Formats: sequence, C-alpha cells, structure tokens
Amino acid sequence: MSSEIRTSIHGQWSSRMMFVMAATGSAVGLGNIWKFPYITGENGGGAFVLVYLLCIAAIGVPIMMSEIMLGRRGRQSPINTMATLAAEAGRPKIWSMLGWFGVIAGFLILSYYSVIAGWALSYVFRTASGMFEGVTADGANSIFTALVSDPEKLLAWHTLFMIATTFVVARGVKHGLEKAVSYLMPMLFALLIVLVFYSMTTGHFMQGASFLFSPDFSKLTAQSVLTAMGHAFFTLSLGMGAIMVYGSYLPQDTSIAKASILIALADTVVALLAGLVIFPIVFANSLEPGAGPGLIFQTLPIAFGQMEAGVLIGTLFFILLVFAAWTSSISLIEPAVAWLVENHGMNRIYASVFVGMITWFVGLGSMLSFNVWSEHRLFGLNFFDLLDYLTANIMLPLGGLFIVIFAGWLMKTEASKNELNTTKSGYNVWLILSRYVAPVAVMVVFLSAIGVIKLS
Ligand code: PHE
Repeated sequence: MSSEIRTSIHGQWSSRMMFVMAATGSAVGLGNIWKFPYITGENGGGAFVLVYLLCIAAIGVPIMMSEIMLGRRGRQSPINTMATLAAEAGRPKIWSMLGWFGVIAGFLILSYYSVIAGWALSYVFRTASGMFEGVTADGANSIFTALVSDPEKLLAWHTLFMIATTFVVARGVKHGLEKAVSYLMPMLFALLIVLVFYSMTTGHFMQGASFLFSPDFSKLTAQSVLTAMGHAFFTLSLGMGAIMVYGSYLPQDTSIAKASILIALADTVVALLAGLVIFPIVFANSLEPGAGPGLIFQTLPIAFGQMEAGVLIGTLFFILLVFAAWTSSISLIEPAVAWLVENHGMNRIYASVFVGMITWFVGLGSMLSFNVWSEHRLFGLNFFDLLDYLTANIMLPLGGLFIVIFAGWLMKTEASKNELNTTKSGYNVWLILSRYVAPVAVMVVFLSAIGVIKLS
C-alpha cells in the first residue's frame, strides 16, 4: 500500500497550521509553566537549563520528526501504526509493543497531570474571589498547603478535570481539539509577556534571569542531567505516542521538519518566559527556588495580589493554564482511545469514558500522596514522585529511544526520505541526529544516572 492513499479513520487536521497548533497545544502545558520552573529551582538553575535546551535541540527535535513521520506513515493508533510499519520494513511484529508502552505511559502521566490541573482549576476560583489581594508569601503558602492537604477538595477538582478531558476526546479530533487551541494558545503567550513585565518591577529581575541563564556546572549531577533530558521529552510530549497519533492525522503535504522546529521553539519560549516570571518573584520574596511542585502556586498569587488589576489578570492566567493543561491531557489518552476504536470497534464516546475512568482511578493515588499517603514512600519517593520519575525520566526517554532507532535504523531510507520530503542536507542532519546523536545521548544519560559510567 502506498502511503499516499492511507488516511486515518479518525479524521484529519483541517490544515497544516491546525496540526502545528494542536501539537503545540499538546506540548505546551503544565510541563512548561508548573514543572519547568520547579525542577529548574530544585536543580540549581542555569546549568540545568542549558542541558535541557541542548536536549531539546539535539534529541527532542529529531525524535519529534521521527515520531510525526511514523504516525503519518502508519495513519493509525501508535499500536497499529508500529505493527503496520514493522511489517512494511520487514521487522518483527513485537514493535507494536512500543505503542502499548506509550499507552501505559500516557495513563500514568495523565493520572497525576489531572491532579495538578485540578490545583490550577481551583486557583481560578481562588484568584477570582479576591482571596489573594495583598497576600504575603506566608499567606500564599498556607492557602496552598490547605488545598493540597484536603483530599475531598482535590478529589472534586481532579474529577472535574478528568470529565473535561474525556469530553473533548469523546468529541474527536476536529470538533473537540482544534477550536480550543487556536484561540487560547496565543492568549496564554500574551499573558505571560504581561507577567514578565510585572516581574521586571520586582527589583529582582536580573537575579531571576541570572539564576536561569548563568550556568554553574558544579550544581549539575548525573540525576539532574537525567531530569533535564526527561523533561525535554515530557515538555515536547515525546516518547509515548501522543505526537505520533497527532502525526497520523496530518495531511500528506506538510513539512515535518518545519513543523517540528516550530513546535519545539514555541514550547521552549513558553517555558523560558514562565521561568522569567517566577524566579524574580521567588527572589523578591525571599522564597526557596527548590520549593517543589507547589512553586508556582506559592509565588504567582503574591504577584497577582500586588499588581494593578491582579484579580482579573490572575484569574485569566489560571484559566489559560487550565486550558493549556487540557489541550495536553487530551493528547495523553488519544493513543489509547484511537486503539480501542480501531481494534474493538468501540464507539469513540465509550472508549473515552472507559479510558478516562481508569485514569481517574489511578489519579487517586497521586492525589492522596500529597496528604493521607504522604508518608508512604518507595526509594524515598511518594506515589506522585514515583510516577513522575518513572514516566518522565524512564518511560518517555526509553520510548523515544526505540522510536528513533526504528525511524533511523530499521525503517527503509526511501520511506523516511519520502515522508520527510526535505532537502538533502536537511535529511542528512536528521539522519545523523537520529542514528547517532539522539540514541547515544539517551543511553549515556541513562547509564550515568544509574552510576554505570561517570560523566565528570
Ligand atoms: N507536554 C505536556 C506538558 O508539557 C505533557 C505531555 C507529556 C503531554 C507527554 C503529552 C505527552 O505539559
């Protein structure tokens, strides 16, 4: 079968721009605004950011191109796409396991992602109520602590967010996903810029910027390099099939290279802007950069409490954050839903509800790990930390590694040339990055994190 006549039974993006929007919607989310600042704070700033940027460029972009390419060529859920492409390349069917691996990673990520999105949702109402007007650092901290130590409240928000996610996925690619993204992403971007201007007034802007951009390599450990790499996968939605399934809805004539670079760029800019907003506030209020997952919830309210029209800007900000999380969460379960529709003839609505319910259930564990279960630990990590570590630092890079090995080494070069359809030198750059740079980098970082090799 030639790739030209393959189309997805789930539909197609209505335009090339829509794909870029939707994939950017998947990439830009809590990872950029909630996770990037707090892990940067925990890992000492500049040097960590530099490693993260290198990982985006040298590992993230080639893997994103590979993932989109596999999706578009297979035109099905990642599980069936990998089975089809393995057959086409004369490779064993076991490659479809890669799709399964991604489906599981997606469940696990969404289960805790939804809990954090629930925090953001509750902050919409808190900010709107004027609760943060004139709030001090201590006040913001105790409001946050009160929320996360209340399982009943968390349950309500987590449930609400999962319902919202399931609803959009049930409506399907075009009707559900496209519309929301095209308005909300640019608004989020604009609001971040407004907040950067606020941060400039704190008197600590330069300190924040230098924390982000002046590398101090003595702060870098093998674990923080792994965290930076894992985050590059997480933030670009790579390694679990989300971008692959979006690629399967991509019109044939779109340039995969251009789209990937655009998506990675937009994603990176949003993360860096978030950092430029958060750290000046952290230093201006003598807060701890390594405060952990609550960082943005403990810092932003102070800013909203002080600035002109803070209630309005703050409320709008959290609304947009929830939307950013929403457009990411739908891509986390789309691979599973697409597979249920393809292989079990399940109708899309049932499939979404089914997947949504399982994810909701697993999420209860993360929710409780912030309160009732906070002392239940394995390797010193609670349930949320454990899921986060397992998915972002292990499963996504491993998934990405296999994706890039398949695309770079096992797929026929005519096939990849044909799909990528770029200039000769562009193709060669991709090939070198995918065959050598990305796989070797991922393996070296893994091996050094488990102590097999020492980098410094
Ligand atoms: N990229 C999303 C974010 O940064 C999270 C995500 C990870 C989405 C993996 C899909 C797949 O918030």
